[in-house]
Amino acid sequence: MIAIYPGSFDPITLGHLDIIKRGSRLFEGVIVAVLCNPSKQPLFDVEARTAQIRACTGHLSNIKVDSFLGLTVDYARLHHAQALLRGLRVLSDFEKELQMAHTNKTLMEELETVFLATSNEYSFLSSSVVKEIARFGGPIDHLVPENVAREIYRCYSKTPPTAITNPKPSALVTPPHKVEP
Ligand code: PNS
Repeated sequence: MIAIYPGSFDPITLGHLDIIKRGSRLFEGVIVAVLCNPSKQPLFDVEARTAQIRACTGHLSNIKVDSFLGLTVDYARLHHAQALLRGLRVLSDFEKELQMAHTNKTLMEELETVFLATSNEYSFLSSSVVKEIARFGGPIDHLVPENVAREIYRCYSKTPPTAITNPKPSALVTPPHKVEP
């Protein structure tokens, strides 16, 4: 059975990668399909996103990476996919994902949406969170593949931090003003 794993992947995170790896064990083949959405302003264009995903999934022989424009079901039909793979993180994902699954079912009866529960350690992780941290120069190498982290920092013209550091509490407190005698 061939599955498609559609998404924006702007950028791909370790959470996405976890779903791809686990999907590759369940299905004969998985096509990671990057949506080209002209109405959105992504950080990376669709070519950059597909290249990033290819670079970190190259070791998985049954994974293909592609991009598409339009309806997911049309792409699924074109590629003879019988399953649509999605990750579920938290309860708030469920509502949107269920609506999407039901909508797709009305458009393509034979396409089954298969949800994988995101691994616990990635349940908080999203592409937006990664971009927000990187924008302020915070550490992201524990959240995205190495090649992606480098490109994000380049985009924001930031130098990657050397280690995950928390500011010392003393650095957060304004020292009291000394009153000169
Ligand atoms: O990673 P995302 O942004 O949550 O992925 C959402 C995606 C790409 C799966 C969804 O927006 C989608 O399928 N878009 C294509 C348009 C479409 O088929 N719409 C009808 C189903 S809701």
